[in-house]
Parts: sequence; C-alpha cells; structure tokens
Amino acid sequence: MMPIGPLMIEHRVIEKMIALIDMAVPVIEKTGTVDGRLIDTLVDCIRTYADRCHHGKEEEILFRDLERKKLVEEHRQIMNELIEEHRWGRVKVSQLLQAKEEFVGGKQEALTNILACLKEIASFYPKHIEKEDKHFFLPCMDYFTESERDRMLEEEMDFDREFIHKIYKEKTIQIKHALEKHIL
Ligand SMILES: [Fe+2]
Ligand SMILES: [Fe+2]
Repeated sequence: MMPIGPLMIEHRVIEKMIALIDMAVPVIEKTGTVDGRLIDTLVDCIRTYADRCHHGKEEEILFRDLERKKLVEEHRQIMNELIEEHRWGRVKVSQLLQAKEEFVGGKQEALTNILACLKEIASFYPKHIEKEDKHFFLPCMDYFTESERDRMLEEEMDFDREFIHKIYKEKTIQIKHALEKHIL
C-alpha cells in the first residue's frame, strides 16, 4: 500500500463525522438548544482523530518528506494551502468549544456561534479532503522512490501504534493536575 492509502481511508471516516454535524445542525436549529456533551464528543472526534491523528500524519510524515523534495510550484502552493487549512480548522474548533462553554454557562445567544462554527466546519472538510484526494496525494507520490514510500507507510503505522498511548498518558496527566488543583 502507498502511504496515502491509510490517509484516504481516514478521509472516509472523517466524512462520516462530518455527516453527523450535518445531522446535528437542523436538530439544534429546530429545538433551539444543544446538549454540551454532543459538542464535546464532536470536538473530540475532530481534534483527536481528524486533527491530531490524521493531520498529524499528513504534516509530520507526508508534508515533512515532501518539504525535502524539489516540488513544482503548483504542489508547493497546494501544500501551503493545506497547512493553512489545518490551522484554520484548529481555530474554528476552539471557537466552537468556546461558544459551547458560553452556552452551557447560560448565554443563550452563543447558540448562534455554535451553529455558525458547525456549519463552517461541515463545509470546510469536504473541500479540504477533495483537494487532497483528487489534486495532491497521487501526484505527490511521484516524488518518492518505492523504498521511501515504504518507509513512510511504516512510520504512519508506528504513529498510529503509539497514538492511543500518547492520548491516554496526556489524559492521565490532565486529570491529575485538575485533581491536584482541588486538593491543594
Ligand atoms: Fe489535510
Ligand atoms: Fe487529509
């Protein structure tokens, strides 16, 4: 398998997450409210899976190795756009979380921001994914030899193998710090 194989499979999972946002938006609009836990779960899907796990492999493996190659202008430009889009996504998810905090804290008007963020995220991801799937991933593979591609795939597997342990080590530290604040 080429190193873009796992990334394209992950795109299909992210599309399913985005479909959930598309389902949630009309429900929130109709009911005029949202369960903060739903937003927390959606944010976790996007932050942990789509951003840290998926964008993590794109940026720390694929883009890093492309950076070492002499890219044609078109590919360099698309790669810069993709990196910028990843940044935009992180900001938007933080804004969504902020709006959710305000809403659960009693600020009813924050629902407008929640909906705006959800809609922007839902329209952003399909375009970002299409750009990678149809205009970037395959032509980029031509910059690499077969052994370079194999090494990247291996590194992606290692990334995934270590990922779950990294996440839960971090969670353990976060919970410990939160508890220590209450104890001290
Ligand atoms: Fe991406
Ligand atoms: Fe991607």
